[in-house]
This record gives sequence, structure tokens and C-alpha cells, in this order.
Amino acid sequence: MKTEIYEVEPGQYHLEDYDQTYADFNWEEVEQAFSWHQTGRVNMAYECIDRHVDDGKGDRVALYYKDKDRNEQYTFHDMKINSNKAANVLKEAADVKKGDRVFIFMPRSPELYFVLLGTLKIGAIVGPLFEAFMEKAVKDRLENSEASVIVTTKSLVGRIPVDELPHLRHIFIVDEDVEEGHIDFHALYDKADEQFDIEWLDREDGLILHYTSGSTGQPKGVLHVQNAMIQHYISGRYVLDLQEDDVYWCTADPGWVTGTSYGVFAPWLNGVTNVIAGGRFSPESWYKTIEDFKVTIWYSAPTAFRMLMSAGDEMIKNHDLSSLRHILSVGEPLNPEVIKWGYKVFGKRIHDTWWMTETGAHMIVNFPSMKIKSGSMGKPLPGVVAAIVDNDGNELPPNRMGNLAMKKGWPSMMRTIWNNEAKYESYFLPGDWYISGDSAYMDEDGYFWFQGRVDDVIMTAGERVGPFEVESKLVEHPAVAEAGVIGKPDPIRGEIIKAFIALREGCEPTDELKEEIRVFVKNGLAAHAAPREIEFKDKLPKTRSGKIMRRVLKAWELDLPTGDLSTMED
Ligand code: PRX
Repeated sequence: MKTEIYEVEPGQYHLEDYDQTYADFNWEEVEQAFSWHQTGRVNMAYECIDRHVDDGKGDRVALYYKDKDRNEQYTFHDMKINSNKAANVLKEAADVKKGDRVFIFMPRSPELYFVLLGTLKIGAIVGPLFEAFMEKAVKDRLENSEASVIVTTKSLVGRIPVDELPHLRHIFIVDEDVEEGHIDFHALYDKADEQFDIEWLDREDGLILHYTSGSTGQPKGVLHVQNAMIQHYISGRYVLDLQEDDVYWCTADPGWVTGTSYGVFAPWLNGVTNVIAGGRFSPESWYKTIEDFKVTIWYSAPTAFRMLMSAGDEMIKNHDLSSLRHILSVGEPLNPEVIKWGYKVFGKRIHDTWWMTETGAHMIVNFPSMKIKSGSMGKPLPGVVAAIVDNDGNELPPNRMGNLAMKKGWPSMMRTIWNNEAKYESYFLPGDWYISGDSAYMDEDGYFWFQGRVDDVIMTAGERVGPFEVESKLVEHPAVAEAGVIGKPDPIRGEIIKAFIALREGCEPTDELKEEIRVFVKNGLAAHAAPREIEFKDKLPKTRSGKIMRRVLKAWELDLPTGDLSTMED
């Protein structure tokens, strides 16, 4: 398949020269921006909020918050006061101390962000939970982390199995009618002192604990430390291209790492206006958010773009989206077809970024100052040593598929798996290679191409087939909304390719259509890459961050247990 190459779009970005980006992107110099520089101590919440007030920018809008009931704005000064108050509440009513784990389990609201920043001001470690988690998922995380405090809402508190969580001492409820045994957050908050003495920390002190699923076992608690701010800040500046006057919108929930690293830290470290939209996805309200707040930089995910794409372009015409100057994507492969669509409707190329919960921040990206090779994740950040290695940690030459790996030691790397050092160690191969679990190859220009999770790569009749390539092709077919592809064991070919397909609105799931789609892939990609089997589904199983869960498809197909489904969307 021919790769489309897109040149840098002139006039849109603060740096349009890649060599310049490479030269300016420097971990050490960035440290000058933080209080380490002067005092040797830092605090993420200070660097995100109070620092801007101290620098005379307290009147700038830090947060636009919108959902169906609320439409509010807060300056950096407001954020400072509100997070101070939250810190005072947690400290006084629950005796929260440095290093304690404080979990936040609630839908998006301004209070969520006040509590998150307040927790950090105390030097405690934040554990954000996605509001859709049910009891088992909540329990696993609180138990493993030995959290002492949780801040939640009346409607979610019932999912916390208090009797089974001996370490959990305090439950704060942020809405009305608080029952006995729970602490009324607002009653205390309204009276709380507006001053707070920030706990100054070392760069290796804890910051945040994000739980993520592996292919086996319980969810893993990925611990990040204060030092990650270096990478949050610099990737915000050079990859997101955040500049003083930007209005930035990251659509991710803080229950997922994108919603904190790039929904809280990167934008506020860079002092820009951050848009947070609560409530559920709807194309209409998303376009309205961009229009109402004049969003300039928008960070979302391929599933969302595909959903917008399938909602039709007519709706876009009713909105003024001309404020947009930079669009980015993360979490799953960005299909070339989606990039094309983005250009057609927004006049901008969507820029892909690759990273993981464990890496804490961007690792391989399409810098705005770089040519896009459509379908590629881009190139490593300057300072990140990425390579394709075999299972013994030997580097492979260009164009060979293998383990996507990085040399240990980038600033935002996870520091441990909570209570499971052995699991942490298991990520590394000799030579200090961090093994991502993704398979990929690097081309001769140093661009990385995602192929799948390691165990998803299909071997059919001796040919290696990356499911992403097939899926990308499938979604180019006008009837296909989404596709997930797996290898199905076959006595003759080793594996055959099976595709699960969700059709677009109004398309009939007929046998003729199956054949048409098969031929479409055969003709458009390769005969060996064409799915021998196609099954239509109303919906495909996906994680909250939007990845199609091929292992669930595989389990359905083979009648096997599906394993941990706590990260699956409903
Ligand atoms: O398989 C890769 C995929 O998402 C995995 C990490 O998932 P998670 O920890 O939930 O973090 C998601 C958001 C940071 C990776 O191992 N992934 C992430 N970004 C991309 C991607 N796959 C392809 N292209 C990407 N840009």
C-alpha cells in the first residue's frame, strides 16, 4: 500500500522546523522552569497553578468547565484558592499526609480538579478512578493501593465495599444529603481556609497511581512521580504546541492516564486555558464545545474521530470550528482514512502520538514540525531511545517487526508497579530495554509503525500480518464503521484472519456485503491479508480509552474466558 506523506502545515505552529524542535527539546533546560531550579524541591500542583499566579498571570482563565447543568470558568487565582481549600479539608478532616493514597471516584466536575490538585498540595498520591467502575474494579484498586481516603458522590458510594477495605478510613461525599458515616465535603469546603502551606517534595516522591490492565492477572498500579512534570511540560510545548493564548481541550477522563498527563498536567504546566467537558460523547455537543470555547488545540482518540466521521459531515457545517489549529490523537492506531477525513472537514491533519500508562507521557509522536507519514506513529522524542528488539533484547534492523522497546530512564517513566516489584521488573529485558508489549517496525527514516499488541500479530500461511493494517483497510470501506481483526487457528494455514465488523448506520449485513468487503481488502491490501471470515456485530468490545479488545473477540471466537473486563466500556 502506498504511504501518503503530508508536509508540515505552514503558519500554524510555533516551530515548523524539525531540526529546531530537536535542538530546543531539552530535558535539562526545561528544569529551569520549575522550583527545583531554585530550591531543589517541587510540587506538581504548585507548578501547574500557583506558579502562574506568582508570575502575575493569576487572572488568566485556567479552566472552562461545561456539562449539561454547569458552565463555569475559573482563573489560575481561583484554582489556587479552590485547591488550597480542598487541601485543607483533606488534611483537617482526614489527616491526609504525604505519601497517602487518596482516591477520586466521581464524574468530571470542577470539584474533581480542586480535589486532585489539593491532594497533590499535601504531597499525597492521587488515585483517579473512572466513574463507570463497578464494585469489583473499585475494590481491587483500593485494596491493592491501601488507600485511606476516597472522595466520591452519593450515587457511586454504594460501589465501595467498605467492610472489605480495612485501610479505607474516610469517605468524602461531594454532593448533598450526606449520610452518616460519610464526610460532607462541601460543608467543610465552604468554611475552609484559603491559605495552604504546600508540601515541598523531592523529584522522586509519588504523584499519581493509575491502574491499568495487562493481558493477565489483576489490574496493575502504575506509579508515577513528580519528576514526570519535565516530560509533561516539554511534550505539551513541542508536541501539543501549547502557547500562551491557546484554548486546549483534551477529551479524556482523568480516570485514564491521558486525562491526567494531558488533561491536567501538560496544559496547566504550560499555563494555558484548559477546557473540560463533562457528560457523555455526542457529536453535536463536541462540535459545540469547540465552537463555544474557540478551542485551538484538540487532543482526542481514533474511536472518537471515527464516531464523528460516521455521524456525517453535514453537522459540521452548522458549527464554526475555524479556531482549531492543531489536532492530535492517542490510544490506538490512527487510520490513514481518519487523517484524510480530518483534513477534509477541519482542514488540519490529525497528528498521532504513541505512549502508554507506564511511560507516563508521549514517547513516539508526530511533531507539528515533521512530515506525517500517514499510518505511522512518528518518531521518538529527542532524548528517548526507542528501538525494535527481539525477545532477548537485541536490536533489529529497519523494517523488521519486533518488540517496540525504549531504553529505561526517560523522565516520566513509571517507578514501580504498586505492591508488585516483580511485575515491574518483568517489563525489562537485558540492556535496560523497557518492553512495551506492542509490536512495530521502524522504517529507514526512523518512523515507527505500529502493528499490534505482541500477541495479536497474525501468522497466516507463513506471512506475518498486522491486524492494524487489515483494520485500517476495512474501515476505508464505506459500509464499515469499525473493525477488529484476530488470528483464528486453522489446521492448514496456522491462522486465518477473522474480522469482526460493526457496520455504519443503514447498512444491511448481507452475505453479498461480506464478499464485497473481503474483495475490497484483497484488492486494496493483499490477498493473504483479506479476512477469510467476517462476522457482523452491533458493537465491538472496546476499552475506555477506545482500543478494540481483540483478546475479547478472540475469547468469544474460541469460547474461552474473557479475563479482566474492568477496563471495557459498557
Ligand atoms: O497498544 C498501544 C496503544 O495503547 C497501549 C497503551 O494503552 P494505555 O496504557 O491505555 O494508554 C493509552 C493512552 C496513552 C499501547 O501499548 N496505543 C497507544 N497509543 C497508540 C497506540 N497504538 C497505536 N497507535 C498509537 N498512537
